[in-house]
Amino acid sequence: MDPQWREKRLYPVLGIFTIFCLLYLNFNDQIDFPVIVWNLPRMGFVGVNHTRFILFEGETHKEVYVNGWNSYWLMEEGIYGRRRVSEMLKRGAEMGLTVCRTWAFSDGPGPNSLQLRPGVFNERAFKALDYVLVEARRNGIRLILSLVNNLDAFGGKAQYVRWAEEAGINVSSSSDPFFSDPLIKAYYRAYVKAIVTRKNSFTGVRYSEEPSIFAWELMNEPRCESISSAPALQAWITEMAAFVKSMDHKHLITVGLEGFYGSKSTENYGSNPGDWAASLGTDFIVNSAVKDIDFASVHAYPHSWIPEADLEAKMKYLSNWADAHISDSENVLKKPVLFTEVGAPLTIKTEGLYDRDIIMMNVYDKIYESAKKREAGSGVLIWQLLVEGVEEYSDEFSFVAWKYPSTYKLILEQSCRLRNISCQGLPNDKVHHRDPCYRQISKYV
Ligand SMILES: *[C@@H]1O[C@H](CO)[C@@H](O)[C@H](O)[C@H]1NC(C)=O
Ligand SMILES: *[C@@H]1O[C@H](CO)[C@@H](O)[C@H](O)[C@H]1NC(C)=O
Ligand SMILES: *[C@@H]1O[C@H](CO)[C@@H](O)[C@H](O)[C@H]1NC(C)=O
Repeated sequence: MDPQWREKRLYPVLGIFTIFCLLYLNFNDQIDFPVIVWNLPRMGFVGVNHTRFILFEGETHKEVYVNGWNSYWLMEEGIYGRRRVSEMLKRGAEMGLTVCRTWAFSDGPGPNSLQLRPGVFNERAFKALDYVLVEARRNGIRLILSLVNNLDAFGGKAQYVRWAEEAGINVSSSSDPFFSDPLIKAYYRAYVKAIVTRKNSFTGVRYSEEPSIFAWELMNEPRCESISSAPALQAWITEMAAFVKSMDHKHLITVGLEGFYGSKSTENYGSNPGDWAASLGTDFIVNSAVKDIDFASVHAYPHSWIPEADLEAKMKYLSNWADAHISDSENVLKKPVLFTEVGAPLTIKTEGLYDRDIIMMNVYDKIYESAKKREAGSGVLIWQLLVEGVEEYSDEFSFVAWKYPSTYKLILEQSCRLRNISCQGLPNDKVHHRDPCYRQISKYV
């Protein structure tokens, strides 16, 4: 064949191919490829036995300890591009992480909101949440879905109060009526019912039957404006936990507390970060003791809570904080406890080590020691992980894990040593060779 002629044919072909590539790269985020669901792995549900999480798989069950993370932004990102949602969950699984906590709320009139008005939903956002569940399942990740924000971001309780005002209810200028006003409570119950009974548009499975959900969280970081609202918050937790259980007895329920002690007479009151922590109308013991609350939740932010302290004092504080909550969960509550948010800014370095690594190592060790003794300290979720391209969801505690090898290694090692405790002999657990912990653990089996 005449080589010149061949070139003439080749160039247009190359040209068209290039145009396709450019189009693909430009619109990749917008194109919704069909979601394939027939190959999703089987997954069991997680329950609680005394102070430990139990994973039920077929006829067998085993104790599990959690290494996990937060990516609150999955649903919102999923509205525009599914690619980064899938990437985050896949990357999480590659670090051996098993639980991801994320927002199942977004309240208000905005274009990306899930709930536009009380009981009125944005189907695009709901589909994005459906997709998050599918991709979690695909990657063997379970989700903690938080149901409303205490803070104003994504609407929160302030939006519920505004809705009630718009409906002609005379609520005070405080947002505490969120916990007591009958109309607002009816809004919240209707919302929760819509979520829990939602049928996933990709799989047809109701959320209440979906094993890739680890737990429902009633609220992210509940706080009252006035300490006199403490009894209303306690009654709200009791009522709403029972309400969720009445529709869904397969999933666990937690409150979403930061974990402050409200009463000076509590043994561990001294582990609070300051007197202010007792004035928020919350109490770790009383709130977590509610019958339908299956496990306790705690957050830890030494850099925000005691900003003036040096690193050594922060570490000491954090150690006490972790010990107090593990011991109260073991001995008083008799329930597992998850540290559902632990964060430290990356930028700060002390003696060549990132503060984040030092803080994470401290809490990771506490959990590992507790898990070895089969005590209540059941896991840590980092606040929070990103993938490249979602920087708009960043805050001072957010990072792309694989950009920081020391932190990445720490996370992976924690995943594997906790897995090792659960597995007690790998071959029976059919751990896949692709499992990031396989090589680490199989050395010992
Ligand atoms: C629950 O824990 C007890 C020991 O505390 C154990 O005997 C029992 O087998 C456990 N049950 C399950 C379902 O794991
Ligand atoms: C709303 O309630 C407050 C006291 O609870 C009362 O002083 C005020 O007059 C009420 N406003 C209206 C419009 O009813
Ligand atoms: C796994 O468990 C075994 C037996 O308890 C222990 O000897 C080994 O150090 C553990 N391995 C890891 C990676 O934690």
